[in-house]
Amino acid sequence: MSETALDRALGLVREVPDFPEPGVLFRDLSPLLADRDGFRAVTDALAATVPAGVSTLVAVEARGFLFGAAMAAAHGYGVVPVRKPGKLPAVAHRATYALEYGTATLELPADVLRPGDRVVVVDDVLATGGTVEAAAGLVRRAGAEVAGVTVVIEIAALGGRARLAPHGVRSLITA
Ligand code: PRP
Repeated sequence: MSETALDRALGLVREVPDFPEPGVLFRDLSPLLADRDGFRAVTDALAATVPAGVSTLVAVEARGFLFGAAMAAAHGYGVVPVRKPGKLPAVAHRATYALEYGTATLELPADVLRPGDRVVVVDDVLATGGTVEAAAGLVRRAGAEVAGVTVVIEIAALGGRARLAPHGVRSLITA
């Protein structure tokens, strides 16, 4: 069977051992992003997972921004950036969640999501699921509905899919 444009694109993801710390296998999407045809193939495949009735994508800082914005521009969605703390002048909701060591915080901009909006949360990598779970919680607190979660890479062993079970995770690669 011949390799599709999407297969070729996903093959561009680079695995970097022991980054950012020993024992972690980092998935570097830089070569994929830099490849014109590859980035388009991945953008189109991600957009194909978005259910009907969704008009807005919620993209997670920082690498989720790249995919969320590209999907939005190419396929006609709005995009809402969920940001790390201290970046937004007006915050609707803030979520702090546990990491392996310490905590992280995400913030939803004020006045961009409305009750009844149906959104899909977009990120590059799903690992433990803590980041996307926090983003999804922010969406719900704004009264909007999480109609799906879409990521490029899912690291199955870390259990993010089970943690996000109610939302139905769509991923292009399961690692
Ligand atoms: C990475 C990745 C996801 C998150 C996944 O982000 O881009 O957002 O970790 O991990 P989790 O499923 O265990 O929560 P990172 O915090 O490295 O931020 P960055 O995108 O700004 O580099």
